[in-house]
Amino acid sequence: MSSPLENFLSLLLLCAIINCSMAAPGSDYDAFVKCFSAGAGDASKIVFAPQNPNFTSVLDDYARNPRFKTPQTPKPSFIVTPLTISQIQKTVVCAKKLRLLLKIRSGGHDYEGISYVSNVPFVILDLFNFRTVNVSIQDGTAWVQSGATLGELYYRIWEKSKVHGFPGGVGATVGVGGHISGGGYGNLMRKYGLSVDHVVDAQIMDVNGRLLDRKAMGEDLFWAINGGGGASFGVVVAYKIKLVPVPPVVSVFKVSRTIEENATDIVFRWQFIADKVDENLFIRLLVGSATKTGAKVESDKTVKVRFVGQFLGNAKQLMSVMKSQFPELQLKKEDVLEMSWIQSVLFWDNKNGSSETTLLDRKSKADNSFKRKSDYLKSPIPKQGLSGLFKLIIQLGKAGMAINAYGGQMAKIPATATPFPHRAGNIFKIQYFVNWKEPGPEADKKYVDQTRALYRYMTPFVSKNPREAYLNYRDLDIGISSNGKNAYNEGKVYGLKYFKDNFDRLVKVKTAVDPENFFRNEQSIPPLKSNKWELTEYDHDEDEEEWYD
Ligand code: FDA
Repeated sequence: MSSPLENFLSLLLLCAIINCSMAAPGSDYDAFVKCFSAGAGDASKIVFAPQNPNFTSVLDDYARNPRFKTPQTPKPSFIVTPLTISQIQKTVVCAKKLRLLLKIRSGGHDYEGISYVSNVPFVILDLFNFRTVNVSIQDGTAWVQSGATLGELYYRIWEKSKVHGFPGGVGATVGVGGHISGGGYGNLMRKYGLSVDHVVDAQIMDVNGRLLDRKAMGEDLFWAINGGGGASFGVVVAYKIKLVPVPPVVSVFKVSRTIEENATDIVFRWQFIADKVDENLFIRLLVGSATKTGAKVESDKTVKVRFVGQFLGNAKQLMSVMKSQFPELQLKKEDVLEMSWIQSVLFWDNKNGSSETTLLDRKSKADNSFKRKSDYLKSPIPKQGLSGLFKLIIQLGKAGMAINAYGGQMAKIPATATPFPHRAGNIFKIQYFVNWKEPGPEADKKYVDQTRALYRYMTPFVSKNPREAYLNYRDLDIGISSNGKNAYNEGKVYGLKYFKDNFDRLVKVKTAVDPENFFRNEQSIPPLKSNKWELTEYDHDEDEEEWYD
């Protein structure tokens, strides 16, 4: 006679062979399909449950951090991949009716994977089918759907004009939905500001299943979804953006200096001018450990600082700016490449000289796990501090820093213009980064801890009260919400770091548009218990019903 365990295993095997439904009758999946099919058509082609043979590829194609792609990673109950607006609407309405936690995914680049992972049961609304880009050079605008990538956006602009561009991020596969709703910066930041500084309209599906444009949603909600993170407020379907002029020729360079080549002095000097140099010039510093040139053993380490720059003009103009404003780098004419703006997009994405069509490739080649953290620098780090930092980077071995100069337009746009508050007064934004290939929780811990060690070391030198952070550099170390009774206080911990004084306005918008907190995640904007309460009067009612927990 077979044991109960053997019987169960045989059933599992049978199920695998005949592809039977693992979703028990009455499960979230069945209830959702029933609700969805009443009005939005056949759900079978766009809703993927775990037993569907395509489930894993649909889930993994846009899960960009392998750290959250392991067999142990919690999986969604199902994934909805709408093809029409009414299917997005039905998804929201049914998920709300069934009290499902809905994670919204556009490009899947969230550093902590919160668009496709959760520790509590959840489903994914994946917008990869929503990727139309309509460019109008006549108007100087474009409508871009959230599931488009930045590469697709840049390519479609370039198709129509060689002298228009858009100030967005570096990384062709980054999704428009997460990127723009979280701010969006790139190498045009000093000249033009952020992506959100160039959004003129948007479409959002709200918690009641209404598709709203800017006029219908009102200025408060429009403000909130331009830097406050879309996922707290609704499903952003599309943004209308204003294009910016780019010259026919831009100049780029990438040069390295090690400690032995005076890197400490050059970085020290850079801090005093980074935010003041010509706003056509953007320089990013990549700081990491490297083996010394000519070393006999690989373990003989130094720090290498790579200066990656872009100038909106030709090489001659760039050389003149560098000579007068940053001679310490000793940039040479032969270090500089002149190219079109679209080719510079490929240069920054480490695809220098590739065909422009490469930008349409939605598959990410990156197979490293990663962790990122962020900081803002308001006054220069003393030389001794830099030397200690470089020593620590050598000691840690793998973690490094990307330093992005501010100033220019960034210092001119008021901190309240959008929810992104990090404007005047910043010299740099710092990103701490580490990438690794080894799988498993031990490796994860080891490398994540390296970024935390750098972050700890930098405490005396960076912004304080709050210690500021950039939303699009998602970092769950700085606080998470359980979305329960204490959501406001929990949200305030990370909210002040991401949004400073704009946090309270975001809470007010949230309270007005989604008071029951349907759109929520580990770092979303919390609603107040009720609209009529002032922020300062928020209390923690022990008897309050918590229907989402
Ligand atoms: P994803 O789909 O993971 O979404 C991120 C967040 O936005 C989640 O909370 C999600 O729920 C929410 N969201 C997504 N779509 C939504 C929608 N339609 N409506 C409502 N909410 C939505 N940043 C930067 O500013 N400049 C840069 O140069 C780069 N470069 C870069 C390169 C690489 C390789 C990575 C991995 C990341 C970056 N980033 C960046 C960070 C990037 O801007 C950030 O991770 C974005 O949130 C990614 O947007 P996705 O749509 O790809 O992510």
